[in-house]
Amino acid sequence: MSMEARYVDETVVRMAELMTPALENFSGHVHGGAILALLDRAAYVCSCKFAGCYCVTVAVDWVEFRAPVRVGELLILTSRVVHVGTSSMTVEIEVESQDIPTGECRRTNICTFTMVAVRDGVKVSVPRLLSRTPEDDARLRSAGLHRAVREEYRRRHEQIPDPPA
Ligand SMILES: CC(C)(COP(=O)(O)OP(=O)(O)OC[C@H]1O[C@@H](n2cnc3c(N)ncnc32)[C@H](O)[C@@H]1OP(=O)(O)O)[C@@H](O)C(=O)NCCC(=O)NCCS
Repeated sequence: MSMEARYVDETVVRMAELMTPALENFSGHVHGGAILALLDRAAYVCSCKFAGCYCVTVAVDWVEFRAPVRVGELLILTSRVVHVGTSSMTVEIEVESQDIPTGECRRTNICTFTMVAVRDGVKVSVPRLLSRTPEDDARLRSAGLHRAVREEYRRRHEQIPDPPA
C-alpha cells in the first residue's frame, strides 16, 4: 500500500443508490436506518481507497437528517477524508437526494465517521492528508476541532467502569 500523502480532493468518492419502496418507513419516506447503512458503506469505500487496506468503523461521530428522503429519488453520497491521525481517518459524507426526472437536488444529510485501517485485525498507519483549497483548509480545521471534542468525551467514558456481573 502506498503511504504517499494525498490531497483531500483526491480522496473524494461518489456513490449513488436508488431509493426503492423496500426502504420505506411508516411515514412513507426512506427509513433513517437504511440511510445510516448506506453512509457506513460510503465511509468504508472512501477510507479503504485512501488507506489502501481494509478499514473498520470505530465511531459514527455525527449524523444530521436535514430533510426526509423520498422513495423514488436517487441518493447521491459524496465522501472525502477530512482528517487523519496515525491509524484513524475522519470521513465526511455529504448526501443529496435527487428527483430523477427533473434533476432537482436537496441536501438531506451530513455526517462524519471515524474509520481505522487494519491488517489482520491490528491497526496500521495511514497516509498523511494535505489541503490545497480554502474549502479543504476549513474542512481539516473543523474536523480537527471536532476530533478534539470527541477525544475529551471518550476520555470521560473510559473512566466509567463496566457494570457489575
Ligand atoms: C479498530 C481496532 C482494532 C483498534 O483497536 P486498538 O488497537 O485498541 O486501537 P486504539 O484504541 O489505539 O485506536 C486506534 C485509533 O482509532 C481511534 N479511535 C478508537 N476508538 C475511537 C472512537 N470511539 N472514536 C474516535 N476515534 C477512535 C484512536 O484515537 C486511534 O487513532 P490514531 O491511531 O489515529 O491515533 C478496535 O477498536 C476494533 O476492533 N474495534 C471494533 C471495530 C468494529 O467492529 N467495527 C464495526 C464493524 S466494521
